[in-house]
Amino acid sequence: MPADIDRFSPNPSLIPVKEAILRNLKNATRKGESGQKLVSLASVAPDGTPHVRTVVIRSFDADEMTLTFFTDARSPKIAELKHQPIIQIMSYDPVSHEQMRIVGTADIHTEDELTRKSWQNIPEYGRGDYLTRLPPGSVISSPELIQHDHTLEDEYFTVIQVKISAIDWLKLSAQGHKRALLTWQDGNFSGEWRTP
Ligand SMILES: Cc1cc2nc3c(=O)[nH]c(=O)nc-3n(C[C@H](O)[C@H](O)[C@H](O)COP(=O)(O)O)c2cc1C
Repeated sequence: MPADIDRFSPNPSLIPVKEAILRNLKNATRKGESGQKLVSLASVAPDGTPHVRTVVIRSFDADEMTLTFFTDARSPKIAELKHQPIIQIMSYDPVSHEQMRIVGTADIHTEDELTRKSWQNIPEYGRGDYLTRLPPGSVISSPELIQHDHTLEDEYFTVIQVKISAIDWLKLSAQGHKRALLTWQDGNFSGEWRTP
């Protein structure tokens, strides 16, 4: 269950808000927890067009302020992240009425220790997403023609690690909306309340 941030409302400090946000992000990566695992990732293509898609948050490290998601090295988003590594991740929790807009810098990992370790933890049935013969987005005449090549192993499996620099947090409430901008720079946290 997401923490109820309303109970902090008389406290002008943003520390409890930050802690609740970080706890919810951590919970999102735990199996069986109801946190916001599915988020929208926005990137910018070399021609300047915006691209948004759903991804699954796989891990969150509150000490390093990093999160990861998995993808295929051949997917168009990789070229976009190489071109412009600054991304936004947006989530909305309809239960707690909280929106988060995370700003971060994406670091692309392929064929390294992080990738190998992550691959080992993916069950056999979950690996198919990264084993298609044709790159994601290829034109095919029928969905039945999708083929997997298990000899590829983790060749195209990619871990994107995002270093979080800011979270624009908004909570809608009948008692009054709340908004804050939380920022992290060189390991130091600061926060300020904003008008919603
Ligand atoms: C529920 C859901 C979860 C998804 N999770 C991921 C994910 O974790 N990683 C990923 O690359 N694509 C994921 N996708 C697919 C992407 O949203 C997107 O369609 C695909 O990655 C192609 O994006 P691109 O062409 O912009 O690279 C998911 C889609 C849905 C509907």
